[in-house]
Amino acid sequence: MQLGVCYYPEHWPESMWSDDARRMAELGITHVRIAEFAWSRMEPRAGVYDWAWLDRAIDTLASAGLKIVLGTPTASPPKWLVDAMPDILPVRADGTTMHYGSRRHYDMSSEAYRRECVRITEAMVRRYGAHPAVIAWQTDNELACHDTVPSYSKAASMRFRAWLARRYETIGQLNERWGNVFWSMEYASFDAIELPHLTPTDLNPTHLLDFRRFMSDEVASFHREQVDVLRQYAPHADMLHNFMGLFTTFDHYRFASNGSIDIAAWDSYPIARTEVIALDEDDKARYARTGHPDVSAFDHDRYRGIGKGRFWVMEQEAGPVNWAPWNPVPAPGMVRLWAYEAFAHGAELVSYFRWRQAPFAQEQMHSGLNLPDNTLSPGGREVMRVAREIAQSDTLCQLAKGTRAPVALVFDYETQWIFEIQRHAKGFDYQTLAFEYYRTLREMALDVDIVSAGCDLSGYALVVVPGLAVLPPDFVAKIAQSDAQWVIGPRTGSKTSDFSIPAQLPPGTLQSVLPAKVVEVDSLRPTLKPAATLDGVIGIALHWREHLEASDQVEVLAHFDDHWPAVIAKDNVRYAAAWFDAPLHRALLEGAARAAGLAVTHLPQGMRVRRRGDVTFAFNFGPHTADAPAPADARFVLGERTLATADACAWIAS
Ligand code: GAL
Repeated sequence: MQLGVCYYPEHWPESMWSDDARRMAELGITHVRIAEFAWSRMEPRAGVYDWAWLDRAIDTLASAGLKIVLGTPTASPPKWLVDAMPDILPVRADGTTMHYGSRRHYDMSSEAYRRECVRITEAMVRRYGAHPAVIAWQTDNELACHDTVPSYSKAASMRFRAWLARRYETIGQLNERWGNVFWSMEYASFDAIELPHLTPTDLNPTHLLDFRRFMSDEVASFHREQVDVLRQYAPHADMLHNFMGLFTTFDHYRFASNGSIDIAAWDSYPIARTEVIALDEDDKARYARTGHPDVSAFDHDRYRGIGKGRFWVMEQEAGPVNWAPWNPVPAPGMVRLWAYEAFAHGAELVSYFRWRQAPFAQEQMHSGLNLPDNTLSPGGREVMRVAREIAQSDTLCQLAKGTRAPVALVFDYETQWIFEIQRHAKGFDYQTLAFEYYRTLREMALDVDIVSAGCDLSGYALVVVPGLAVLPPDFVAKIAQSDAQWVIGPRTGSKTSDFSIPAQLPPGTLQSVLPAKVVEVDSLRPTLKPAATLDGVIGIALHWREHLEASDQVEVLAHFDDHWPAVIAKDNVRYAAAWFDAPLHRALLEGAARAAGLAVTHLPQGMRVRRRGDVTFAFNFGPHTADAPAPADARFVLGERTLATADACAWIAS
């Protein structure tokens, strides 16, 4: 369990650096990330490098014993570069070009810009790749943030055509698989295909899906070009990128494949994230100062999977931030709680954004570990407490590496894109549905691994698939061979990979283990609330339900009040024919968890637990003091059983 910080030496007079480095080390910080926005200082004019300041900054930090994560500066191309190459600016869906003046003002498909990125990356890694203190490299910063992907530029258009030509080989194939006979959309050549925007009405959904796939590949290859250079000159350093919370613009599994990262790092801003996601107003109000109890956990569990067990929090909020509609001060204790929460989920490092609040420029209202007057902020003092608690505890110093959770939740990026392209019901957002399943599992004190549909799912007691639009060819075989309990959500198997309805109707190939088919889908306006009762629990469908025709081999576990099946099952597979409200989701998942032999504990509101090795952590995000669900003879290694709001504890069962 190590602590880090994001630091911008270029923002401060050099006379402050050594004192900063000393105070970081004294605070218990071991890692420091620098340089990811400093291009204008590394190369003030085209081809004129100035490394002297960065040499001194790195040496100052290294002399204090700090390990350094170097960021490539490609998220903020300097003005001289943009002036020389105005075509690198990204283009919005409405056709307007974004301007210089903030950051991320570049188009990932610009080959000229890609060359510039490889050039500055190579110059940097040639200089610092062998430095013993530089132990990791971060590419760019939060790729695809600020709606700069997709970009509707000429460069994107050219590369999209080439991507399509590789995928389909002939234009006839493309016309056939997109269904272009519809509305006279047939193309004579790949060169005739435009980017999907600015049309009077609905675009062809396969065109849109392929564009999402293409853009996702662009993000991955943009990163990959830098990593290839970095590995050449820094073969022993870890490679990473700082991903974002609840972010689905690109397929992170594909991004992370073929050794393109060693660690999945991500940026955790729980209070602001709670404010901006689709949660009920009641939840937003309840957790305004703590963040929703599952909002960071969800991404800890997802990025642990993406990093194949290795994940860091590269940026952790240490107090109020600046970018949500409201930015409340966290409840006292939350900065400490978030650190233990990340460690409980398996993080190797929790690194804070940022060392000191900058009194100037865009983020002057964003807190850090220090106030602009250079005294520790309230969050900084909590981090000091965490560092001391860890240092004083042998158990916390030597936590086991992550252990496999008993429950897998399959999350799939393409499913997100498919349901965004064709929501069919206004409130239907797949990631929100996955989050609802996840939170329900966590309210029952279950640990969850979030995984891809393609990963090895053997060994889990319960596999939850909140929806998987396109069933991969081997997926149903995995279910057929599995002893686990499976819960499959609505819209699974509802599309082919070419974005059509499967010939045998949804749920497609799932019918071989669950003989039932969807004959109609019912998109529910908020006033339509079909009710169902499952295991004595009454609830309703929201947004979406399916009219299922099930064979006699299938058991109907619950009917809607108009007699359509709500939950069906065969052997170890349950299928939910709707997006349910919280009580029904709870009944559905609790029934499956108990059938899987898992112990279910109903936690007090806002309480969450997570196990790491033989240590169980508990966190109270709720508004009231509550007891952690520790056994009577538990030996506490952190805090105690009774937890006030924003408090955390950990124990080992005796
Ligand atoms: C992140 C970003 C940082 C900083 C931070 C503020 O998204 O990576 O550079 O802007 O947000 O919360």
